[in-house]
Amino acid sequence: MPRNSPQLHVFATANQTLRGLADYFVAQASAAQAARSRFAVALSGGSSPRSLYELLASDEYRHKVDWTRTFFFFGDERYVPLDDPESNYRMARLALLEPLHIPAQQVFAVDTALPPAEAAQAYTVAMQSFFGAEIQFDLILLGLGDDTHTASLFPHTSVLQATAAEAQAVFLEQKQVHRITLTAPLINQARAVAFLVYGAGKAAAVRTALHAERDAEKHPVQLIAPEGGAVQWFLDEAANLTP
Ligand code: 6PG
Repeated sequence: MPRNSPQLHVFATANQTLRGLADYFVAQASAAQAARSRFAVALSGGSSPRSLYELLASDEYRHKVDWTRTFFFFGDERYVPLDDPESNYRMARLALLEPLHIPAQQVFAVDTALPPAEAAQAYTVAMQSFFGAEIQFDLILLGLGDDTHTASLFPHTSVLQATAAEAQAVFLEQKQVHRITLTAPLINQARAVAFLVYGAGKAAAVRTALHAERDAEKHPVQLIAPEGGAVQWFLDEAANLTP
């Protein structure tokens, strides 16, 4: 089945980009809850999405989503305690989950108290228990690293070869750390995938992601091509310098 070409949403400023993605998030949540009575989203980590989460939890947006039927997962997690400053869960907890008073039973964090491989396996089981046979998120939010990694799909790592739609543990030789990540097949099963990338520092990575010759080992973001629809890119002009 041909993969749809990326849909670009380009805004003049980072703030407008955040608002554009916040509006898209609201629309996806509403559509999912109307169709299936719930909205299952995988949050991205790192620094870019923090402002998005704070915006969604703000007085301007908090009443636009039925949070009682929204369920939160993570596209990847650093292999650190959940209260570690590096934890993606901690960032989302502080920026989004606590301000919205999301009950713990609606949040599925990676259990990083387990050994890496077991943590990934347990996360896969948690997703299977929630979704049933096919793990299909309504929305997966992603960021883009300067090296064109996304989630924790880093260049030249074994997880790039994964064929199973699951969570896997990956050891990053350069950083000497473990990560837990959704595999590309799992991401590509999602109903919608949206990247949030802004700032001039990301322009080279965006250009590679969208325009470079395919070499997914080197540029893992090129693995992301959901069967069910186009990848949505929310970019500011600074990050979207056309080649
Ligand atoms: C993580 C993220 C990662 C992130 C990119 C971009 O755990 O760090 O999931 O894939 O999205 O590294 O990070 P920034 O937004 O901080 O540039």
